Amino acid sequence: MVWVPQAAVIAREAGARLREFFARGVETEYKGDVDLVTVADRTCEALIKGRLAEVFPEHGVYGEEGTRERMEGEFRWYVDPLDGTTNFAHGFPQFCVSLGLEQRKAGLRADEDGTIVAGVIYDPMRDELFTAERGKGATLNGKAMEVSKIGLLAESLVATGFPSHKRHDNPNIHFYHEFTLRSHGVRRAGSAALDLAYVACGRLDAFWEFNLNPWDTAAGALLVEEAGGRISGFSDGPFELNSREVLASNGRIHGELVGLFKDMFAGRNLEPIPTPKEFAERRAERAAGR
Ligand code: IPD
Ligand code: CA
Ligand code: CA
Repeated sequence: MVWVPQAAVIAREAGARLREFFARGVETEYKGDVDLVTVADRTCEALIKGRLAEVFPEHGVYGEEGTRERMEGEFRWYVDPLDGTTNFAHGFPQFCVSLGLEQRKAGLRADEDGTIVAGVIYDPMRDELFTAERGKGATLNGKAMEVSKIGLLAESLVATGFPSHKRHDNPNIHFYHEFTLRSHGVRRAGSAALDLAYVACGRLDAFWEFNLNPWDTAAGALLVEEAGGRISGFSDGPFELNSREVLASNGRIHGELVGLFKDMFAGRNLEPIPTPKEFAERRAERAAGR
């Protein structure tokens, strides 16, 4: 199939544009000005949409920046032209382009999902291209990649993320706390698509997040599966593009993770830590020599 090679060319071209925008922002010591980021997001989505239409004129496109084209079709691309916007805005070099291709059975409504059949994630700062095609494995810069072989959460490096809006609705800080106490550490690097790619290539052993969108996860979910890992909902049900929960791992620690989610949702077996007030009281007692 030509999907992956064609998408890789497009992702590289969009990534090169992101690199230019990023350099301009850093050169002008720009911090937090929404405009350059918005221009970068939109310019890259327009570029990707145009290129996809040239090579796959029948395919649909569903992009974060608002593209909704040919949504009834058999094939649809989920496009995140810049995953890691906050990083990009602050000059923190962790972001990517993510393109995931879904194939749907004939007769499905526009709101019914199919299967992800191809995925490409490109990190323009490291020049790393992650690809997968269903049933054919996954690669990093052309070499086969595999998930890690770690068998215990206690020996794992894991990752999560937090949305940039409506953070008060989200319980994830409790999960962050619990996983931090039970693993080698939790990274919060700010690009969900790259987090998934890192599970796929074994740099991370697991990743979870609440409330992601299909353009964040479509490509990365396939990378994880094709690299030998597992991807599911928090209760181990099948991963769905619209389910807004994702739990990815190397497979070996998946059962342990699902068990921890179950315990946490039931309020069981939580590891206590002192509250700031308790800590301050103890500190004051120590200072007073008591
Ligand atoms: C965000 C990133 C981030 C995740 C957020 C996403 P964006 O995507 O993937 O890591 O924690 O939930 O919204 O806005 O940078 O494309
Ligand atoms: Ca995103
Ligand atoms: Ca984005």
